[in-house]
Amino acid sequence: MTNSLDVCILAAGVGSRMRSNLPKVLQTLAGRPLLAHLLDTVGDLNPAAIHVVIGQGAEEVKAAFSGRADVNWVFQAERLGTGHAMQQVAPHLSGDRTLILLGDAPLIRAETLQMLSEVDADLGVLTVDMPDPFNYGRIVREGEQVVRIVEEKDANESEKQILEINTGVMSAGTRCLKNWLERLDNNNAQQEYLLTDIVEHGNTDNAKVTAVKVSDPIEVTGINTFGQLAALERALQMNKAEELMASGVQVMDPARLDIRGTVTAGQGVKIDVNVVFEGDVTLADNVVIGPNCVITDSTIGDGTVIKANSILEQATVGDHCSVGPFARLRPGANLVSEVAVGNFVEVKKTTMGRGSKASHLTYLGDSIIGEEVNIGAGTITCNYDGVNKFETHIGDRAFIGSNSSLVAPVTIGAGSTVGAGSTISKDVDTDVLAVGRGKQVSVRNWQRPTKKKD
Ligand code: UD1
Ligand code: CA
Repeated sequence: MTNSLDVCILAAGVGSRMRSNLPKVLQTLAGRPLLAHLLDTVGDLNPAAIHVVIGQGAEEVKAAFSGRADVNWVFQAERLGTGHAMQQVAPHLSGDRTLILLGDAPLIRAETLQMLSEVDADLGVLTVDMPDPFNYGRIVREGEQVVRIVEEKDANESEKQILEINTGVMSAGTRCLKNWLERLDNNNAQQEYLLTDIVEHGNTDNAKVTAVKVSDPIEVTGINTFGQLAALERALQMNKAEELMASGVQVMDPARLDIRGTVTAGQGVKIDVNVVFEGDVTLADNVVIGPNCVITDSTIGDGTVIKANSILEQATVGDHCSVGPFARLRPGANLVSEVAVGNFVEVKKTTMGRGSKASHLTYLGDSIIGEEVNIGAGTITCNYDGVNKFETHIGDRAFIGSNSSLVAPVTIGAGSTVGAGSTISKDVDTDVLAVGRGKQVSVRNWQRPTKKKD
């Protein structure tokens, strides 16, 4: 049993094969940095310490994870190889066992790491059979004992045929590990200090070196290029879509759904193509999401339909509402129930009560709207005077005629009607007609201008 575990994540590499200025571990998978995936996973192991080796873009990486006080950042000034990276961590290791992960393989599961850290061996190497093992370190075995890991550049023809590869994830007794790390040299094709050489030192010491093999390459696939990142993204998204479908959600095309966060869905939910979910999204029973919607950190109630091309962010949509097509719900939009918001309507920090409607071309910001209110096309709440924001209050059953400007702060009383084209800058009583527009006149004997002759 593991008493105290040090976790090390090697993330100092330049990611040169991506030709990107961003440190590789800050590249995103399912909307989150690669390192965030790993930190979440290793957190489940309750390690005594988490050491992350950084180099290229170290400040940027630290800044991106400034909230993680539990991480011990270890700076590797020169990138002289994975073994050299571990040599920088060695003085910080104080537990009984050490688990080593590579920062560019983000989908490893906590169960696998647990199994590896508990393996009954001085050194455990996580391996997998890769259909195409090119560029990976190959596992050379004698029965159960791993005798060597040979890198692509150092491998001979017969070693290159080996399909079992080093995932890069290892667990070792800390005392042995420190000793092996001291003995590394850079006499190899890469002229680097290769972590994989600890296997040979272990064998010299008659230590038990065991491979723990996983079955799914996706779990351990390392990312070196944007092509690999995209392939892993698709594989991860396919898994997420399959999970949703298995839970009873109808996904029209699992290859055209992106979940960058978590989606919790009830029964009878349908999701059309090209939908992107970000953050935490909750869909109640019988929700229908039309094509091309982007839904971020929002909650959607029972039987509600979000029609094509709608964008929701930090919105709360109640039961039996209809949103879109082409609607935009911004943070603080709260549609209570049976609300209809139609095309080219933008709602921000606004509550719309039961049965209220804004069907076309409207901006509602900083407003509290009662029940059964009808907002005509082209209505704008003028909530901003260039310096401050103000609220608009609209009472139950009010009817706002098309193309009205409601200059906040302003209150429209319940049951009142605002005539189309009004600019309302004074409060309106209950049950009245308010009209605020130029009177219509007809000019007799008026002549249209005619074209001038030169
Ligand atoms: C490594 C393994 C290889 C394995 C493969 C799995 C070694 C020598 N090779 O090769 O056996 O099959 O991963 O994906 O370990 N890093 C540092 N400092 C350095 C060099 C690397 O922190 O000086 C970090 C990188 O940021 C990266 C990780 O270590 O996250 C792996 O380095 P990389 O250069 O990608 O190793 P591979 O060639 O992929
Ligand atoms: Ca790699």
